[in-house]
Amino acid sequence: MAFVSTQKPNALSPRPKAPFYVLGIESSCDESSASVVRYEPQESSQQGLLKVRSLSTFSQISIHQPFGGVVPEVASRNHLVSLFPMIEDAMREANLHFSDLSAIAVTNRPGLMGALLVGVTVAKTLSYAVNVPLVPIHHLEGHACSLFLDQSPETISRIQYPLLLMLVSGGHTQLCLVPGPPETWPEDLMQTGVIARSRDDAAGEAFDKTAKLMGYPYPGGAWIDQGSEGGNPKAYSFPRALPQRIVFDFSFSGLKTSVAMTIEKLKKEGRLEAELPHLCASVQEAIVDSLCTKAFLAARHHGCKSLALVGGVAANRCLRARLESGWEEAGLLVPPLFPMKAYCTDNAAMIAAAGATRALQGYALTQDEALRLGAHASGTGKGIK
Ligand code: KG4
Ligand code: ZN
Repeated sequence: MAFVSTQKPNALSPRPKAPFYVLGIESSCDESSASVVRYEPQESSQQGLLKVRSLSTFSQISIHQPFGGVVPEVASRNHLVSLFPMIEDAMREANLHFSDLSAIAVTNRPGLMGALLVGVTVAKTLSYAVNVPLVPIHHLEGHACSLFLDQSPETISRIQYPLLLMLVSGGHTQLCLVPGPPETWPEDLMQTGVIARSRDDAAGEAFDKTAKLMGYPYPGGAWIDQGSEGGNPKAYSFPRALPQRIVFDFSFSGLKTSVAMTIEKLKKEGRLEAELPHLCASVQEAIVDSLCTKAFLAARHHGCKSLALVGGVAANRCLRARLESGWEEAGLLVPPLFPMKAYCTDNAAMIAAAGATRALQGYALTQDEALRLGAHASGTGKGIK
C-alpha cells in the first residue's frame, strides 16, 4: 500500500507565537524519553534559540544487554510502561501545564515499528485530550536539531551554511547537506539532502559489533572509546573501504570481518586480553579515519562552510579530535560544531526542538490528520499514512 502525505506546509496549521513551549516524545528504539523545549526568537538572526526546560529519559540498555542487542518486542513493552512517567516528569520539571504547550512533537519515523507505535499512540491521544497540535518528526531530523539545543547566541551565529551534517548513530551513518537554519528546512531534507550513507553497517553498529567480538557489553561504542586509552592505533591495520576520492559513501562490514579474524587468531594465541587496548585503538582509528576522510572530501566537493557531527557516535573523543584538527584543510571556514554530550544519544529534547521549528513552518497537523498519524519503520514515510 502506498503512503500518502498531506500537502505541507498546512494552511490550517496553527503557527505558534514565539516564545513558546513544545513537548517532545521519543520512543523509536530503546530510550523512552520526554522533554520540554522553549523556542525563543532572536532579533539579530533568523535562527531562534532552543532551550531545554526538562528532559526525562528511561534508557532500556540494561534490559537489552543480556541479549547483546535491542529486542524489538521487549522495547515496545517497556515503552508502554515508561513513557507516561517520563512525560509526567518532564512536565513537572518544566513547571508547566499541558495548556501552556504550543505543540506536541513525536518521532513517527524511522525506527522499530512497535516502539514507534507506542510513542505515536501516546502522543496523538494526549494531543487530542489536551487540545494541543501534534507535529510528526523524522528521528534523524531530531538528531540534526540536537546541534542547536542549549547553544548560546554566539555559537549559533558561528554556524555558516551550507553546513555538512555528519550523522553517526547506532542505526544510521550519513552525510547531509543542510542549506540553512532549521526554520528554513524543506520537508524532505532527510531524504533529498543526503549525499552519502553507509552501504552496510552504520558506524555505531561497527563499534557495537566489533566490541561484542572483543567481549564488551552492548552498546560497545563507549567501551571501545574508553578501552582505547593507552592503545596504539597503528598496532593493527584494518581495512578502509571505498577508497575512491569521488565516492562519499561508507562501508564497515569488511572491517567487522577483518576484526573477527584477528580476534580469532589472538584467542588461539591466548593474547586477546593483553592486546585489547591496541585492538580498541586500531578499530576506532579505522572507523574514525573512514568517517573523517569521506566527510572532508565531501565538504570540499560541495563547498560547505561548516561541518557538524551529531548522533550517538558523536560522543566519541577520537572522532571529535580528528575533526577538530583537520577542518581547515577541508576548506571549512569555522571549526566543527558538536551538540552537547547529553544530547548526542537518543533523547526527546531533540525531537521537541525539531517540533518547534516545524510548527513554525506550519507542519503541525490538524486534529483530523493527527488522529490518522501512522508510524513508519523506514525513513521514507511522511505525514499521514
Ligand atoms: O544515536 P543513538 O543513541 O541511537 C541511534 O539512533 O542509533 O546512537 C547509539 C550508538 C551506539 O552504537 C553506541 O555504541 C554509539 O552510539 N556510541 C559511541 C559512543 N557513545 C555511544 N560510539 C563510539 N564512541 C562513543 N563514545
Ligand atoms: Zn538516534
